[in-house]
Amino acid sequence: VKRVEVALGERSYPVLVGAGTLGHLPTLLPQACSRVAVVTQRAVGAEVVTGRDQEVFFIGDGEQAKSLATVEALVRGFARYGLNRSGAVVGLGGGVVTDVAGFAAAVYHRGVPVVQAPTTLLGQVDAAIGGKTGVNLPEGKNLVGAFWQPLAVVCDTAVLRTLPPREYRSGLGEMAKYAFLGVPDLPSLPIDEAVARCVECKARFVTEDERESESLLAGAGAGRALLNYGHTLAHALENVGRYDLRHGEAVAIGLVFAAHLARALGRVGDERVAEHERVVAGYDLPARLPPAVDRVSLVESMHRDKKVTGSGLTFVLDGPAGLEVVRDVPSGTVEQTLAELR
Ligand SMILES: NC(=O)c1ccc[n+]([C@@H]2O[C@H](COP(=O)([O-])OP(=O)(O)OC[C@H]3O[C@@H](n4cnc5c(N)ncnc54)[C@H](O)[C@@H]3O)[C@@H](O)[C@H]2O)c1
Repeated sequence: VKRVEVALGERSYPVLVGAGTLGHLPTLLPQACSRVAVVTQRAVGAEVVTGRDQEVFFIGDGEQAKSLATVEALVRGFARYGLNRSGAVVGLGGGVVTDVAGFAAAVYHRGVPVVQAPTTLLGQVDAAIGGKTGVNLPEGKNLVGAFWQPLAVVCDTAVLRTLPPREYRSGLGEMAKYAFLGVPDLPSLPIDEAVARCVECKARFVTEDERESESLLAGAGAGRALLNYGHTLAHALENVGRYDLRHGEAVAIGLVFAAHLARALGRVGDERVAEHERVVAGYDLPARLPPAVDRVSLVESMHRDKKVTGSGLTFVLDGPAGLEVVRDVPSGTVEQTLAELR
């Protein structure tokens, strides 16, 4: 078992990585905890034994299930079950489950403990770590949420065996992002080791900037916002919603796009762009925009991105000093780069 610490003072917690780590769940719950609400989806197919009185709550599948309506149904279920502050929530599933379960835990009784047990590769390397929880609105993704750090995260890599291949590849899209955040040799590592390295990297960013506030104030350099590398275009592709893309596939396209945009702005050369293309292709992920993409809607959506603070477009971009937050990127350059990526 590999153990990675997310260091956040009194809210610090361990992330256990390895096959069979779900078996450690009973020891990760508070000793006094007598009731556990397990939030999951039917397709997940993994089971947990918490060693406590437990009830399983199923939520629907996909982004539509990541809604306030789902949270309402869940917390009403918790109330009927008699869950209170001496109980706990376990999120057992992909990013949709851990985002919803974490948010329900954050608001139920003004906050009950949650242990996250991500069952997708994307959840294990990213979504379940760092305490960002939330749901979508019809107006956009992730618009309602809370920071609510888990008590522990259990990345049981054995449960990834049942993951559909496309979902696995989607997780590799987030893994590709870590390659550009300075995690070397990921493709050559066994999966447990690769997951643990990504978790370590994410944990460092979360420790440095738990609420993504420093990066917004400081402008360039460090900060949790760098974890959004490749995500400005990815979120736009997901928000426009007409393209059949998994999150990690959209991120893969977003990474290659970010490299092309950095080159258009004179920040990197051809070799760095080729490296982005190589990493993404190595994971068998898409690197070009879907056919018939609506560039105008994409740019409009990027303008509405909640990370935008000024009037112009903001991206995390590679450059001579590594990744940085770059503001006021001209729309024209963005549109031209989108055209290049068709
Ligand atoms: N909070 C964060 O920091 C953060 C970061 C990245 C992504 N996210 C969110 O994560 C979500 C995407 O998560 P995802 O890619 O895990 O998708 P997902 O949660 O929709 O899971 C994908 C599919 O796999 C199924 N599944 C899950 N585990 C399985 C298993 N072991 N075997 C078989 N099937 C299984 C699910 O039921 C689902 O149908 C998005 O909503 C995104 O916004 C959150």
